[in-house]
Amino acid sequence: MKEILNVDQLAISFGNNEVLKCINFKLHENEVLGVIGPNGAGKTVMLNILTGILKPTKGTITFLGEDITKDTIPERCRKGIGRTFQVPRPFEKMTVYENILTGCVYGSRISEKEARHKALDILEKIKLSDRTKDFAGKLGLLDRKRLEVGRALATDPKVLLLDEVGGGLTESEVEEVLDLVRMVKSQGVSVVWIEHIIKTMLEGTDRVLLLANGCDIVCGCPQDVMNSKEVTDIYIGCEC
Ligand SMILES: Nc1ncnc2c1ncn2[C@@H]1O[C@H](COP(=O)(O)OP(=O)(O)OP(=O)(O)O)[C@@H](O)[C@H]1O
Ligand SMILES: [Mg+2]
Repeated sequence: MKEILNVDQLAISFGNNEVLKCINFKLHENEVLGVIGPNGAGKTVMLNILTGILKPTKGTITFLGEDITKDTIPERCRKGIGRTFQVPRPFEKMTVYENILTGCVYGSRISEKEARHKALDILEKIKLSDRTKDFAGKLGLLDRKRLEVGRALATDPKVLLLDEVGGGLTESEVEEVLDLVRMVKSQGVSVVWIEHIIKTMLEGTDRVLLLANGCDIVCGCPQDVMNSKEVTDIYIGCEC
C-alpha cells in the first residue's frame, strides 16, 4: 500500500514539559489509523503539529513524498490535510448548509455553483440533509460532530485527522460515528482517528497506535494492539 504520510522523530516541548519525545508512524493510502493514549499524552498536540498550528522542536512530516514540516496551515489544508477539533467549532449563527458551503468556497478553488452542488452532496453523506436550514448552534452533539466532519470534507482532504469525533456520545451514537468514518474512508480518504472508545478502535480502524510517555509505544493490527500488555498496562490500567 502506498504511503501518504510519514511522521519521523517528531518532538515538542513547552518549556520544561517534553510532551512528545519521539513519535514515528506511517499512514497508508485509504487506511484508518487509530490513535489511543492516556489523557494528556499529547495526541491533540500531535494533530496540532500535523496541521501546522504548533511547530515541532524536532522531526519531519512528509506528505505524499514532500517535506511539509515548514508549511503554513493554509498550505497544508490546500495540499489535502483536513481535521476536526476535539470540541466542535461550527459558525453557530450560520445554518448547517452555510457552514458547509463556506468550507466548500474557501477550502477548494471551485465556482459558487459547483460549491453549492458539492455542499448538498456532503450534507447527504453526513446525514444532515434534513437539517440544512437549522442554525448550527442549535444542533445536538452528534449532529455537531457530523457537521465538523462535513466541514473538513468540504476542503477535499486526502488525509483527515479526527480528534475524538465519538467523544461524549451514547453507545448508539458511536455506531453512527463508526458509519460516518466508514463513509469517509469509502471516499478514498486516509484517516488518523484519535479516540478513547475501545469499540471504535477495534471495529473502525485498520491499525492502532498507542501514544504514551511522548513516544509511539506499539502499532499494529487493532486486536493485537488492544490486547497487548502495553495497552493493558499503560492505557486500560490508567484512568482515561
Ligand atoms: N499550547 C500549549 N502550551 C503549553 N502546553 C500545552 C499546549 N498544548 C498542550 N499542552 C500540554 O501538552 C500536554 C498534552 O496535551 P494534549 O491536549 O495533546 O493531550 P491529549 O493526549 O490530547 O489528551 P486528551 O485525551 O485528554 O484529549 C498537556 O500536558 C497539555 O497541558
Ligand atoms: Mg486531546
